[in-house]
Amino acid sequence: MTNKITSLTEYLKAYQESIAHPDDFWAKIATTHFWRKSWDQVVKWRFDGDQAPDVQWFVNGKLNITENIFERQLFMRENQTAIIWEPNDPKEKEIYLTYGELFEKVNQFANTLLKLGVKKGDRVAIYLPMVPELAISMLACARIGAIHSIIFAGFSATALSDRIVDAQAKVLLTADGGFRGNKTIALKEISDEALETSPTVEQVVVLKRTGESVSMKEGRDIWWHDAIKNVSTENTAEVMDAEDPLFILYTSGSTGKPKGVVHTTAGYMVYSEYTFKNVFQYDEGDMYWCTADIGWVTGHSYIIYGPLLTGATTIMFEGIPTFPDAGRFWDIVDKYKVNQIYTAPTAIRALMAQGDEWVTKHDLSSLKVLGTVGEPINEEAWRWYHEVVGKGHCPVVDTWWQTETGGILIAPLAGITPTKPTMATLPLPGVQPVLVDQEGNEIKGNGVQGILCIKHPWPGMLRTTWGDHDRCYQTYFSMYKGLYLTGDGAKRDEEGYYRIIGRIDDVINVSGHRIGTAEVEDAINQHPKVVESAVVGYPHPIKGSGIYAYVIAEEMADAQKNGLEDEIRDTVNRLIGPIAKPDVIQMVSGLPKTRSGKIMRRILRKIGEGDATQLGDISTLLDPSVVEEIIAGAKVEVKR
Ligand code: WT7
Repeated sequence: MTNKITSLTEYLKAYQESIAHPDDFWAKIATTHFWRKSWDQVVKWRFDGDQAPDVQWFVNGKLNITENIFERQLFMRENQTAIIWEPNDPKEKEIYLTYGELFEKVNQFANTLLKLGVKKGDRVAIYLPMVPELAISMLACARIGAIHSIIFAGFSATALSDRIVDAQAKVLLTADGGFRGNKTIALKEISDEALETSPTVEQVVVLKRTGESVSMKEGRDIWWHDAIKNVSTENTAEVMDAEDPLFILYTSGSTGKPKGVVHTTAGYMVYSEYTFKNVFQYDEGDMYWCTADIGWVTGHSYIIYGPLLTGATTIMFEGIPTFPDAGRFWDIVDKYKVNQIYTAPTAIRALMAQGDEWVTKHDLSSLKVLGTVGEPINEEAWRWYHEVVGKGHCPVVDTWWQTETGGILIAPLAGITPTKPTMATLPLPGVQPVLVDQEGNEIKGNGVQGILCIKHPWPGMLRTTWGDHDRCYQTYFSMYKGLYLTGDGAKRDEEGYYRIIGRIDDVINVSGHRIGTAEVEDAINQHPKVVESAVVGYPHPIKGSGIYAYVIAEEMADAQKNGLEDEIRDTVNRLIGPIAKPDVIQMVSGLPKTRSGKIMRRILRKIGEGDATQLGDISTLLDPSVVEEIIAGAKVEVKR
């Protein structure tokens, strides 16, 4: 397979080359792609100055990413399975789509979008469950140069509307409903509510999935099956500039509303393919399964783009790990003889808690590689994955990356890089991590810890945040001059291996989902009986982090008996979605604030962690006595 590293020596050589001559390194990889016109320059970049990031890869190159999935490969893969779709309910039939069939469906939907008036550069919002049409529609957007913005189907109407409005999407693709375990989600109903406050949407295409009755608005809503009727399955791809946006994906940060991370065409393409085949060591004919939802970046890069660009067979699973029972993942591995599985530590911990029998009663001998992503993996989960799932012979690849990075930055190459439990190990070729102290001074050498930054661009990195380039600069490039700030803390051990410790900002990682504390606080504060709130993460055995909310209510006394806690959870559910609901709510009469009115989250975090032994200096607080009250009323056991 082209551009695939096959030994540690090759990795070390590739890494050295990629640092010494990044242009030559990436040019060599990109020549294996299909270009309508080659680039004039490999990379042009600036990480400093208030216009930063100013990054272009494969300058003036022309291409279409779907031509690299289809036209480039059809000759050899027309009859090879591209996507296997496994339904939520194992009693329903799976679907196999070959590269040839997928190509026709993508073309047909591309033509459908054109018929609906979607043009190059328009934004298409996609709010669909994990069904083949989700894959088809994102590729159809890419085919015609429309920018897809996929919104996870677990988000609420308000969250959906916020994202549609920010991107000014012209069309919304949704379904009547979606299946998730034994629940159904009323996606069309949620969409209708969202559309009341989303004036830019002219047309809604509705897929029939659950069959529940929905209302269709005349002139605006059209059924998917009607929209594609008699539409041609042949389409010529739009020619895109290397730096034309491919998609927007919203993600949470420390402050404000979620931002639309923008990824562009060529760099993302080159990077997602390169990292996919190298990290997972995909071999021709392998069966690959990433359990993520396409609503998150993992699904974009490692269910769809990376695997399909590589010519892999990728499995798309509609359901959840515990339906109909805790053996579902292993059923699927056994059923399709999966070779590489890629999942999240939270799923591993949840399944580990169900006991080994669920795993051991299945034949998992096909497995070669065990991937993990989304949050730090604890040693117990790492070992269980390695021993019980992988029977000790499958490398665990702990992959560190972010929505902003587009693809994996630090990870072992399966079977090539020696692994160590809980470590993401070494940077991929082209990636230059640095650790810095609070002042931004680089911490050199090994056996050190600091704030993780990246000092040279890689092709898959974000280019801007939609509609607000300054926000991109402020968030990622203003803190330390000339460096991309990841927001994570990391250790580099004696051998130069990286271990990601976790976020250093006000972002919480709940079951691998990124949630901004400010967003949750804003939602809680919308409840009419809430005066103020402060949200922090706290250690949670399954989710990694849980959400701990300290809330001041207007009338403390009857907060309890009036079920205010439940109402607060409902409010968050309505404004963001179930993933952001606080696990713990503690009613307090005050919050620890400095004289200037700033909430000292450090103290609240410590209490949430159950450790009040080192609260640090609290004498600068406006009212130090609230700390005692909060400790006394804490919802977790607190060591003093
Ligand atoms: C944040 C990014 C990248 C796809 C899924 C999450 C955390 C991610 C790891 C890992 C420790 C990890 C970081 C990062 N994270 N992977 N292997 N070890 N932490 O994407 O929602 O953009 O979240 O997830 O804190 O900053 P995301």
